[in-house]
Amino acid sequence: MSSTRNKLIQLLSTHKESYISGQFLSDELNISRSAIWKHMNELKKDGYEIEGKAKKGYRIISYPNKLSENTLSWGLNTEWLGQTIIHKESTTSTQRIAHELALNGAKHGTIVIADEQTKGKGRIDRAFHSNNGKGIWMSMILRPSILPFLAPQLTLLTATVIANVIDDYANIKPQIKWPNDILIHGKKMTGILTEMQAEQDQVLYVIVGTGININQAKEDLPEDIQKKATSLQIETGKHWDMLPMIQQILRTFEKKYSNYINHGFQDVKQTWENYGFRMNERLQIKSGKEEWEGIFLGIAEDGALLAKKDDGKIEKVYSAEISW
Ligand code: BTN
Repeated sequence: MSSTRNKLIQLLSTHKESYISGQFLSDELNISRSAIWKHMNELKKDGYEIEGKAKKGYRIISYPNKLSENTLSWGLNTEWLGQTIIHKESTTSTQRIAHELALNGAKHGTIVIADEQTKGKGRIDRAFHSNNGKGIWMSMILRPSILPFLAPQLTLLTATVIANVIDDYANIKPQIKWPNDILIHGKKMTGILTEMQAEQDQVLYVIVGTGININQAKEDLPEDIQKKATSLQIETGKHWDMLPMIQQILRTFEKKYSNYINHGFQDVKQTWENYGFRMNERLQIKSGKEEWEGIFLGIAEDGALLAKKDDGKIEKVYSAEISW
């Protein structure tokens, strides 16, 4: 991959609202203006729509609507996340491919992404609907040096990253429903599935799979979930370029992950609670034969839900049926 092309896309992306002059680009990249022109033509071939205006310069109009290893890598600018990207037009499940790769030694930060999954996998062995080209179906291979019981923190971290990016991009404040569904206006638009291979005191690898509904119309969603599920397009009335959004997710994830590994969970907890769905509201908890009500206080360091019982006692809940 050309690092000049990488920088060029970065410059164009960060000046999306304005024209950027050929001279500025040539100075920044230390190449001639005719070399810039050649790069622009290559980008156009890859599906970038770039407007060039005399005396004004260049401006990105839209990103390729086709994802590929190249288009995802160009302008990504991360240190380790997404240095290897495997893109499939159609596959059963990116989660399955990621497991195979991880078992065969794939590097920390490898990304598997697909336009379509024919057997998308959700939590508790549910199916996850992943229509062609309408959402971000992606699995990340991570090899964190943390104890296995801390792995759920990575799911919570991922939820905060996606919530942050949607908030920034679409200017819409999503909510995270414990443990890790992302909702807009009360309907689910993202699901996260974290799977791990570990020995007693060592994580071998973690696969974090994210399914983010972006450009579905209501009728693209299966009928049985239309009342509970949504997409960014349904909620904003706009079509979204997925490429810059994926890159932003990867950049934000890399930053937040490093902060988490170096400084712990505190920042994730704070962000999670900022987006927490129905924080400080009453909820019902059903676990086995036990049923009780309490106030939802937030999340504990180990990812458990914290609820205050009517007698003032604070309980940690790891798995239960929760209703609000
Ligand atoms: C859930 O809400 O139950 C979790 C859904 C996770 C879906 C993603 S899409 C990418 C990755 N591949 C899969 O098969 N599942 C995850």
